[in-house]
Amino acid sequence: MKVDGTAYRSIWPSADGRAVEIIDQTFLPFAFRTKTLTTCAEAAEAISVMRVRGAPLIGVTAAYGMALAMAEDASDDGLATAYDVLLATRPTAVNLRWALDDLRAILAPAAPADRFAVAYARAGAIADEDVEINRRIGANGLPLLREIAERKGRVNVLTHCNAGWIATTDWGTATSPVYQAHDAGIDVHVWVDETRPRNQGAFLTAWELGQHGVPHTVITDNAGGHLMQHGQVNLVMTGTDRVAANGDVCNKIGTYLKALAAQDNGVPFYVCLPSPTIDWTVDDGVRDIPIEERSGREVTHLDALLEDGSVAPARVVCEGSPVANPAFDVTPARLVTGLITERGIAPATRAGLSEMFSHSSEAAE
Ligand code: MRU
Repeated sequence: MKVDGTAYRSIWPSADGRAVEIIDQTFLPFAFRTKTLTTCAEAAEAISVMRVRGAPLIGVTAAYGMALAMAEDASDDGLATAYDVLLATRPTAVNLRWALDDLRAILAPAAPADRFAVAYARAGAIADEDVEINRRIGANGLPLLREIAERKGRVNVLTHCNAGWIATTDWGTATSPVYQAHDAGIDVHVWVDETRPRNQGAFLTAWELGQHGVPHTVITDNAGGHLMQHGQVNLVMTGTDRVAANGDVCNKIGTYLKALAAQDNGVPFYVCLPSPTIDWTVDDGVRDIPIEERSGREVTHLDALLEDGSVAPARVVCEGSPVANPAFDVTPARLVTGLITERGIAPATRAGLSEMFSHSSEAAE
């Protein structure tokens, strides 16, 4: 997608073919900066401090991290260490493990001398596949938006967190139908949940929708239920970090409350995902998906643009009060209207997912 008129992906190989470039999302929306990652440690740091974030982009960055590790130490020990270091960066998004397993399976039989080239090429291929998958998710979700807009003149989508193009390699998951609808001339407007504590909605989703010219309105996390009660939301579309085999959906903290409000108000609740986000090893998402607990500082402090133009962390919680920061929650499958994937829209059930993917987590054909 475009930033100030220039087409970008969120991650791309460096010109010398030895490193990888990212958009450093910790500076958005106040500054647009890119960063070169040259080592596995830098890739791991970028994932854990959320310079890159969003399940699909975490997976692609981890794949490049494996490649960078192979340039440093291509031995079997080097491979095992890189896998462990990268896997420990964030616990919830399963795309991380998916990408690392993919890279390890390809690298294990390769001669150490070839491992960097093999891994670097595979990381690039995973990024390309991610773009195509997300384009297809958009194409599969587009008819839902078109049908509502044709009936009502405008379609109002509510989204939570950032499942946009900068959470993936390009297009986004939940934003892909929105971008494709907007580009097709459909009148689409997005309610953007601010998404405390890190404000991915107010900082990232609003920024990227604005860059693309999509009409949107940022709302507090508590406003969605009220808007749904008053007929101002036609459907909810979110991304996800992990979908269990039974259709339970893990996503940014607060998603579950939006699903409850949607059900109470008869608003369809769709989740957009690429197939590598399905975790076939987890039978019951509510019980078994690991929920990342992040630093309390994300709750007590918020980066703010000051009137003098500088950006600084501001305390927003009473000093001395204990805080908790679970970063994700799980929405039970019964609250999910449908799972929009690269292969079509699946019911959020074990049978629906198995039928569409026959237990394969392969990328788009
Ligand atoms: O903590 P984050 O910002 O990595 O969380 C991101 C989300 O929860 C997204 O909704 C999810 O990863 C899907 S991204 C297409």
